[in-house]
Amino acid sequence: VIVAPPRPTNTGILPMPGSANPFVAPGANDLRGPCPGLNTLANHGFLPRNGVASFEDIVNAATHAFNMDYDLASALAAFGMLARGNAFIDKVSIGLPSDLVPPLPGQIDGPLARGLATHGRFEGDVSMTRQDAAIGDNRNFQPALYSQLLDLVSQFGDDSTVTGPRSIVNMKVMQEFKFKRFTDSQAADKQLQYHVGRLLLSYGESAFTLNFFANGTDGTLSVPTMTSFFRDQTFPANWNRRSAPGGLSLIGNDAVNVLAAHPVLPGANNANGVYVTDNTAIDTCALYSNLAGDNLPGVLLNTTGVLKQNVGFLLNTIHNLFSNCTVVVPHGPA
Ligand code: HEM
Ligand code: MG
Repeated sequence: VIVAPPRPTNTGILPMPGSANPFVAPGANDLRGPCPGLNTLANHGFLPRNGVASFEDIVNAATHAFNMDYDLASALAAFGMLARGNAFIDKVSIGLPSDLVPPLPGQIDGPLARGLATHGRFEGDVSMTRQDAAIGDNRNFQPALYSQLLDLVSQFGDDSTVTGPRSIVNMKVMQEFKFKRFTDSQAADKQLQYHVGRLLLSYGESAFTLNFFANGTDGTLSVPTMTSFFRDQTFPANWNRRSAPGGLSLIGNDAVNVLAAHPVLPGANNANGVYVTDNTAIDTCALYSNLAGDNLPGVLLNTTGVLKQNVGFLLNTIHNLFSNCTVVVPHGPA
């Protein structure tokens, strides 16, 4: 059964990746997906290089290499495992479905194995450098989207510390970029889904970029550093992880700040391509309830033995991050 790995004892600044974790480009059978953080971890062997990871692998890698707070990393890893992995064998692909991750009993998702790149539950619309699944490639880095982000850095970023153009990524850049991504998806994607869980995750991912990709030495995020993570999926030279763990309150506050400049309400496009809000409040308990309740398949509760123990452990792990919220149980479609 899955057991929580020990909490890290050293949570300060550290040079990364270190000589034991060199970059090796993924081979033809190695899986990579929509998350530049997990892809980078796999390219450096902090996660298995084949891209198929356990809950414990993901918690250990994200806490160690990016100094992600243990409870935040645990909840994300637990949600990923329940949404798109096999909680019985404790394996999830960070990309496309894999033969190494067979379906659960009852064939949730049909005979296919799963992976984090599969659209829905976790992967969703209005990503930064990946296209919406209904209109393009939702898995691989998209240079055309990234160049929109770079344009905004040159307009709104902080001045570089060396003489030159604006090249430091800041809150204002993310505020403008996320709003542009929303307005573009809203117009182009007839099937846009942007309910509260996805909305807050997507703003959270812009906060991840600001807080986990920045160099821990001075806390700034330069364009070359950001490009190293997003495009090359490798740690930049002379990079340090952040100097203190980054957790839900930091990420949540920044996500709300990114959103506040150009508020967007949770909702979805209707058949006529009109965005219809769903009248959900934007708060952390709504996020928890939408992800753990609505987005996870209800059949996860129809289990016995080791699978039941693991599902219970993973659901508790998600709730642990939102301990002030009323407990929900999975009730989404299989
Ligand atoms: C996006 C999973 C950790 C940075 C994503 C997506 C998934 C995912 C499924 C795609 C969502 C979408 O855009 O549709 C996870 C899991 C983690 C984790 C299970 C477990 C700890 C991290 C870490 C970082 C990170 C440690 C940063 C160091 C990002 C960013 C995106 C993203 C920036 C947005 C990419 C984009 O919109 O182009 N993650 N992630 N993630 N993740 Fe992660
Ligand atoms: Mg996406």
